[in-house]
Amino acid sequence: SRVRHYKFNVVMKNTSRLCSTKPIVTINGNFPGPTIYAREDDTVLVKVVNHVNYNVSIHWHGIRQLRTGWADGPAYITQCPIQTSQSFVYNFTITGQRGTLLWHAHILWLRATVHGALVILPKLGIPYPFPKPDHERVVILAEWWKSDTEDVINEAMNSGLAPNVSDAHTINGYPGPSPNCSSIDGYQLDVRAGKSYLLRLINAALNEELFYKIAGHNFTVVEVDATYVKPFQTDTVVIAPGQTTNVIITANKRGGKFAMTASTFMDTPVVAIDNVTAMATLHYSGTLSASPTTLTATPARNATPVADTFATSLRSLNSKTYPANVPQRVDRSLFFAVGLGVNACPTCKAANGSRVVASVNNITFVMPTTALLQAHFFNITGVYTTDFPGNPPTPFNYTGAPPQGLATTTATKVYRLPYNATVQVVLQDTGIIAAENHPVHLHGFNFFVVGKGLGNFNSKTDPKKFNLVDPVERNTVAVPSGGWVAIRFTADNPGVWFMHCHLEVHTTWGLKMAFQVDNGKGPNQSLLPPPQDLPTCS
Ligand code: C2O
Repeated sequence: SRVRHYKFNVVMKNTSRLCSTKPIVTINGNFPGPTIYAREDDTVLVKVVNHVNYNVSIHWHGIRQLRTGWADGPAYITQCPIQTSQSFVYNFTITGQRGTLLWHAHILWLRATVHGALVILPKLGIPYPFPKPDHERVVILAEWWKSDTEDVINEAMNSGLAPNVSDAHTINGYPGPSPNCSSIDGYQLDVRAGKSYLLRLINAALNEELFYKIAGHNFTVVEVDATYVKPFQTDTVVIAPGQTTNVIITANKRGGKFAMTASTFMDTPVVAIDNVTAMATLHYSGTLSASPTTLTATPARNATPVADTFATSLRSLNSKTYPANVPQRVDRSLFFAVGLGVNACPTCKAANGSRVVASVNNITFVMPTTALLQAHFFNITGVYTTDFPGNPPTPFNYTGAPPQGLATTTATKVYRLPYNATVQVVLQDTGIIAAENHPVHLHGFNFFVVGKGLGNFNSKTDPKKFNLVDPVERNTVAVPSGGWVAIRFTADNPGVWFMHCHLEVHTTWGLKMAFQVDNGKGPNQSLLPPPQDLPTCS
């Protein structure tokens, strides 16, 4: 194993897209940011130096951070942010993981432009459990707003209404050809006929679940969220913010250009819709570039069956080398109702004195001003309480309108878990304002998605259908609109771990909570002490 050093300078950079230019926050001046390469078992040291007028923090999304929660990154959860002209070295070891993950800013809406790929190669000499592709490429999907994204969310929070949707999706930083705009045509993936390519797909968008396609080419899915899956074929990848998917394509055409698209998946009819499609090109090198781009039909934005088929096809590889260690029994069985609500807001004139909020078990999480992990480690009282409810309040009408007890409780509460407890969480989407898909991300763990369904979870019949053999293992799962998923994990990582909807607008509105996992009694079962340079609050 090796130590890998990276330096991230957080700097403003004037960047042009869609015929207009704006200053954006970047790492080293790049959008998307630099790719981090490491192998399983390597230690990664990233020195982040903040040269901008925002506080920043960086999250290594999906990295287990075993006992090193200090390096996880969510602002006010595991650390105070890095202030202007200060720096912090994120120091973590990659244990038992290989594949593609992402890193991103974890404060304000800076993730819009501050994100990049985290490529974890297998240990030296260890092959992939699938035929080695000839080449590998990173493909990052994201969003672009013409306005400043901090202005977009601040306006929304002041008005109480939903923020403006983005003006474009991007593929490796570019929306693709846009009418009346002599901008760059977009990202071009050059391939050679007959060769195979591993595409490391990342959805770094703030608020969009996406369909990804390449005209005339099928994908073999081999990995999600840095865990191997049983390979399967598909012509469409469905990917939610925070998720990663490794696919193999074979350049099996003689030549030409083929459209690559990223389009919205939104299984809710009522919310503001972003109908834009990002366009890139798969180009066979050495063949006539004059040949026409073959267009691909993107799925309808509400093509729920496409998303459902994709999710159902995902199974852990569960081989001898990579077994699926699914908890067969659970110590803690939790039921989390997740969704949107409305609270009073006297200053919110645009929304008639109310504002949209989001909650877990009717708790709208309030960000503390001291990082939870510090409060936990140093026994600082008054920062949070450990009475986060394991079930929604009863009676709680999570199925739909007209709602009862619409107002949520605003509080900073965590759910406490003993070391090594096996945990099941049923995540039930509510329809209080509108049923909506929620890609829920858990920090510090991978979980197994043992079940999912539409409608309300039935605690008698649904568990009988759980897959406890080879369910997909991941760190972010899309809870279907008006449906549920059941996840299981083992609480073997002491610390404080954030769980939230990875649609940034829902996180901002409060669809977030945290688990506090106690230290174990044995050796190597305690949270390590904080690094010397951990930023302080104030
Ligand atoms: Cu990728 Cu807490 O987020």
